[in-house]
Amino acid sequence: MTDFPRPTVRPRRLRSTPAMRRLVAETRVSPADLVLPMFVREGASDPMPIGSMPGVVQHSLDSLRSALVEAAEAGIGGVMLFGVPEHKDAVGSGATDPDGILNVATRVAVEEAGDALIVQTDLCLDEFTDHGHCGVLDARGDVDNDATLERYRDMALAQADAGSALLGLSGMMDGQTAAVRDALDASGHDGVAILAYSAKYASAFYGPFREAVQSSLRGDRRSYQLDPANRREGTREVELDVAEGADIVMVKPAMSYLDVLADTAAVSPVPVWAYQVSGEYAMIEAAAAHGWIDRERAVLESIVGIRRAGADAVLTYFAVELAQRLRAEGIR
Ligand code: PBG
Repeated sequence: MTDFPRPTVRPRRLRSTPAMRRLVAETRVSPADLVLPMFVREGASDPMPIGSMPGVVQHSLDSLRSALVEAAEAGIGGVMLFGVPEHKDAVGSGATDPDGILNVATRVAVEEAGDALIVQTDLCLDEFTDHGHCGVLDARGDVDNDATLERYRDMALAQADAGSALLGLSGMMDGQTAAVRDALDASGHDGVAILAYSAKYASAFYGPFREAVQSSLRGDRRSYQLDPANRREGTREVELDVAEGADIVMVKPAMSYLDVLADTAAVSPVPVWAYQVSGEYAMIEAAAAHGWIDRERAVLESIVGIRRAGADAVLTYFAVELAQRLRAEGIR
């Protein structure tokens, strides 16, 4: 061999075998880090497939029960419930009705799996309003921030009464964390925790979710969700929510916002979660269905990437499947 300066530093030593790579991995994923979002449809007697989210369904109350048993056996950390109501109106009455689908589903979930899984609920009006916005509208048709806070306070009490352990505040109204915290504390629900969707962006990647919840939205949410162009503003929202009493903060979507996630992880004194949203799920499924990517590797890599950027836990539609694989193959 010709003589030339041989490398004295050889990072490849630590990549040599599966056992070595496993030992030096900086990021691990375990079932407990994963939260499964679930849709529950009022009046459904069978689970209904969602076309743009292959493998994900709108559950009936019965299929919810069996899916919860499976989720608990897989060892995931929790579930986030979304309701798909039969009737909608301008103020989203179904959200605060104790017999509304989300509150009924919460009771069922807590009864079925409340010890094994943290049962969480989406606290937002969009599934329940006929105009599809996350809040109530004023006379001009704009989303009325403070009138919406009144609705969120009532919704929080309905969800806490139903047994939700963690309320997912996803509406992006100013002051929502403080308003809900106050309502909970004033009604004896000081033990119910708040997951603030702090840095939630107005994203095209929510597309399939709109089908999943049969959203009636026309227009968009840009007057309340963050502009995708803004990074600093994400941190500002996180700091506000922490100051208002958030127990956990979230960045959403995940994969196009890993910088925001890393910033959040650097400043947050509370746990940081991320939501791998419907469009991110759909992209992986669609590419895999074409044979363009290796599905199993892509699923794991996407979650590892979100964890590596700073998420302590990840909401993902892959949660149960991935947890089952991690258990079968040994926790990474
Ligand atoms: C609002 C809410 C949305 C999602 C979660 N909560 C939709 C939106 O803001 O338009 C999207 C989740 C996903 O796309 O997987 N209730």
